[in-house]
Amino acid sequence: MCALRGKFFFEGVNLLDLPEQEIRKRRWNKIALVFQNSLEVLNPVLTIAEQIGEPIWTHEQLTAEESDQRIINVLNMVGLDPDWRTAYPHQLSGGMRQRVLLAMALICEPELLIVDEPTTALDAASKNEIFQLLQNLQKQLGFAMILISHDVAFVSQLTSLVMTMYSGQVVEYGRTSDVLKNPMHCYTRGLLNSSPQFFKYKDLWGISGEPPGEGSPPQGCPFKPRCCQSSESCEESRPELRYVALERQVACHKGGIETFLKAEGIKRSYRVGQKVIEAVRGADLEIRSGEVVALVGESGSGKSTLAHTLVGVLPADEGSVFFRGKKVENHWATRMIGGMQIIFQDPFSATSHRMQVLDVVKEPLDIIKWKSTEERNEAACRALQAVRLPMTLDFLQRYCYSLSGGQRQRVAIARALVTKPNLVIADEITSMLDPSNQANILRELKGLQNKFGFAMLYITHELHLARKVSDKVYVMHEGEIVEKGSSSDIFEKPEHLYTKQLFKEAFSTSG
Ligand SMILES: Nc1ncnc2c1ncn2[C@@H]1O[C@H](COP(=O)(O)OP(=O)(O)OP(=O)(O)O)[C@@H](O)[C@H]1O
Ligand SMILES: [Mg+2]
Repeated sequence: MCALRGKFFFEGVNLLDLPEQEIRKRRWNKIALVFQNSLEVLNPVLTIAEQIGEPIWTHEQLTAEESDQRIINVLNMVGLDPDWRTAYPHQLSGGMRQRVLLAMALICEPELLIVDEPTTALDAASKNEIFQLLQNLQKQLGFAMILISHDVAFVSQLTSLVMTMYSGQVVEYGRTSDVLKNPMHCYTRGLLNSSPQFFKYKDLWGISGEPPGEGSPPQGCPFKPRCCQSSESCEESRPELRYVALERQVACHKGGIETFLKAEGIKRSYRVGQKVIEAVRGADLEIRSGEVVALVGESGSGKSTLAHTLVGVLPADEGSVFFRGKKVENHWATRMIGGMQIIFQDPFSATSHRMQVLDVVKEPLDIIKWKSTEERNEAACRALQAVRLPMTLDFLQRYCYSLSGGQRQRVAIARALVTKPNLVIADEITSMLDPSNQANILRELKGLQNKFGFAMLYITHELHLARKVSDKVYVMHEGEIVEKGSSSDIFEKPEHLYTKQLFKEAFSTSG
């Protein structure tokens, strides 16, 4: 049983108010559907001509000759030799069957064509052919088209408006070019960030978790269990689609992707004797919930200084930092559950030599006097488990000086994660490690980021690493941000002269 409710207007008439007979008049004739799975849709015992011709025999009174001519014309139109009209579906390849489905939909010259996943089962060459065909036919015949697809490249080239659906609801709607460049719902962004067509060099990480299963829909926002910015209030009701910007609607209780960190006009200099070193000379930075932003630049460009001013380890000479819209003063954002944390560049100075592992990891909780000692110990053990360190009494009581560089870096990550931060600043955390340890730690951290959904500022001068993990990139040069953008844009089409030079040096010898 299925119950259909709502309204579906076509040429001013609500189709759901019409009797079946009236709907049938419009089906194929006015609105036609190109089905997803050609093998299931095409009847194996009917010829191609019999199947393509069916809609015309229902809607028009044509002679056998006239209808044969129509079939020949439409097959020519979709680029399939009309001789195939006497063949049966199993004699055709997947790409050819897709053309048959298209011919079937076009034979009555509809005004609206609904195309359901036209290319999922096809190889790259056939996919391209279908894409070209749809583009040309649409221009030539002028039908409106609804394209249902999870192929982002296809959507970006073929459509002008896009809707993202999750769990039976539209969660974002806007102009395709704007949505793809700047998604405002966490689900849309998750889809785009997992698309290898856009991020050619990034490791593949999908949205963590599963969509809600069958049965009654969850209470509140269905995306909540997988969302990186959810809070308890998201459970109260299902968010409705609302305007969050001009020509953009989003269904999110937070009004779309939140900006977690905003830094404006940060300046910081050092005095060494008579000399003044302007380490950061007016930097602006923005990190949104759940995104990985790489801050790259050569040694001495001011990356660590900027990071330290963001978390308040160093006071800025000028400028302000905001965390979730509130000005950061007196370390409040680093002394809370769900705030921001930094993992320092040097693991040997990040953790005190003379402290035991357990004490180092739970110290941030001790500082804020979070819950009981027992609960702090448990939280510290969970954090150690998350970074795959042993939780034996022996290890918990080890002094940090006795740990290896890799272990120490993991302890530093566990310490940062113990307060369940929403933003982690990781400053060159793998630069002192050998390549194997570096790879393991970075994958570990990225995996944790994916699982817990925290946003991350990943600071490095290792461009190869930045390219593997980042969604966005900021390039720093002599204390200034000289270029910023999506990592796919920056790594493929850098614009600033300095970025070009930096990439040339990094990638020219090693690809
Ligand atoms: N405590 C300090 N006292 C004086 N000068 C400093 C201090 N820390 C950093 N600097 C100077 O500030 C500038 C920026 O240094 P910073 O450590 O921020 O660079 P970075 O981009 O993090 O470099 P790296 O990639 O080597 O870590 C450099 O010229 C550095 O010498
Ligand atoms: Mg540094």
